[in-house]
Amino acid sequence: MSRNGFFVVFEGVDGSGKSTQIELLITKLKKSGIDVIIEREPTDNIIGGMIRNYAEAGDRYLSPETEALLFTADRVEHSKRIQSYLEQGINVICDRFYHSTYAYQGASGVNLEWLKTLQKNILKPDLVILLDIDPDASLIRVSGRNLTIFENNDYLRKVREIYIKFADGGEMVKIDTLKTIEEVKKEIISIFETRFKLNLS
Ligand code: TYD
Repeated sequence: MSRNGFFVVFEGVDGSGKSTQIELLITKLKKSGIDVIIEREPTDNIIGGMIRNYAEAGDRYLSPETEALLFTADRVEHSKRIQSYLEQGINVICDRFYHSTYAYQGASGVNLEWLKTLQKNILKPDLVILLDIDPDASLIRVSGRNLTIFENNDYLRKVREIYIKFADGGEMVKIDTLKTIEEVKKEIISIFETRFKLNLS
């Protein structure tokens, strides 16, 4: 599979500041003449729409294995779209990808090896950035909006633990987000400059 652009994923518990940081990064990259688009999961395709309705309905009635299959089905289709952008030389920044399934469905007790097998043929990002935060702090940030079925403290604590294990294993670069927005932004830019040999100042 040819790839002419970079594919970067942002991960983190709800309220970790992903959307804000992605917006700031995109502005910076575009100012430097870098062609980049934002993607997110769940997507806006038919399966993603189904997941969103489920996540916002308030009752987590599906088994976590079914959730994992739905998120992965959404991702199989999404991977094709991302691949075609990369082939055209368009860089992609994605808000959540398969580490969300490891962390969120893994936190509900789904076997991690099975989850990894499901993701076997999914596109591999060039870089995954984990915006790490204690859910006590992150849930305060999202308290103004309707919470999804995944947003509660004890659960997000387990989600965070799994994310950290992957970061410790070297699959993600972890950034502590209990800093100012500006400090986190600078850290992300510096990671980008090093990883992709860019000069974004
Ligand atoms: P969304 O409102 O898009 O949350 P956010 O803006 O924080 O990304 O809802 C997506 C929810 O779905 C979020 O709580 C995380 C969860 N999720 C999973 O449980 N598994 C997954 O594989 C993905 C991609 C998301």
